[in-house]
Amino acid sequence: MANLKVNIGNLEFKNPVLTASGTFGYGIEYADFMDLTEIGGIFVKGTTIHHREGNDYPRMAETPSGMLNAVGLQNKGVDYFISDIYPKIKDIDTNMMVNVSGSTIEDYVACAAKVNELERIPAIELNISCPNVKQGGMAFGTNPNSAAEVVKAVREVYKKTLIVKLSPNVTDITEIARAVEAEGADAVSLINTLMGMAIDAERRLPLLSTITGGLSGACVKPIALRMVYQTSKAVKIPVIGLGGISNATDAIEFILAGATAIQIGTYNFIDPAISAKVVKGINEYLDRFGYSSVKDLIGNLQC
Ligand SMILES: Cc1cc2nc3c(=O)[nH]c(=O)nc-3n(C[C@H](O)[C@H](O)[C@H](O)COP(=O)(O)O)c2cc1C
Repeated sequence: MANLKVNIGNLEFKNPVLTASGTFGYGIEYADFMDLTEIGGIFVKGTTIHHREGNDYPRMAETPSGMLNAVGLQNKGVDYFISDIYPKIKDIDTNMMVNVSGSTIEDYVACAAKVNELERIPAIELNISCPNVKQGGMAFGTNPNSAAEVVKAVREVYKKTLIVKLSPNVTDITEIARAVEAEGADAVSLINTLMGMAIDAERRLPLLSTITGGLSGACVKPIALRMVYQTSKAVKIPVIGLGGISNATDAIEFILAGATAIQIGTYNFIDPAISAKVVKGINEYLDRFGYSSVKDLIGNLQC
């Protein structure tokens, strides 16, 4: 069995397989399907300083080539997370991390400061890339100056591992990655969903109440791989890759492209035990090719 451990900043992961925010609840919802401690970590659903209702229904739509969502960061706010969720997840033996979202810099800072106090949450993922909120969200992640500004402000209050989640809805993702690296991000994760739209021609209506939404699933994988490859060459901090991963081979492709760890998103809805299966598949691949450590695979593309 190969060594599957990877590191992001000072934080150690037992293996590189993580679950993507918004697709794995708080983890506990999936405990009947798999052993949560078998994976490297869990990003819980997007958490904001205040309670959010999210967008009007319908806010999810399946298309023949991917899933569209416009959930709009529905959650009960960080104080609810601290009082009702944290006690239930704090002793799960894996890295439990919070995805922090906001509409203003002050929101991000206030939420991050509260999560900083939680002893068993070793990292946050700053979502500056959500396409489904009218104010803020992706607006921060599509401009290097505003991306830098929000990361700088959060870095002042957040003392543990700071991961920044980037938007693919930009011309050059590497310039955003470099901007957040310069302000103290410990890692970047990419990609969030791509802006998309679906129409019901019979009813002459958009399928989502918000008209446009975020596209995810297997169809986005080639774009995500390309962006992970480019970004891992542009920054020194680790890159966490995601977008359309549905099996161990997909995960290995991201690691070869330069990802230190990967996240599984939409595929959790198809197979709720997929992330544990991907850990086993990575291990089998390493054994088959005689690698003693997954670290030897990172960026090891023969080109
Ligand atoms: C229903 C749904 C909800 C999501 N909610 C969040 C969220 O709260 N915060 C976030 O950063 N990303 C969120 N995402 C984006 C995913 O974490 C992921 O970046 C994206 O879906 C691409 O990966 P995938 O193709 O493996 O799903 C959400 C995605 C879906 C499908």
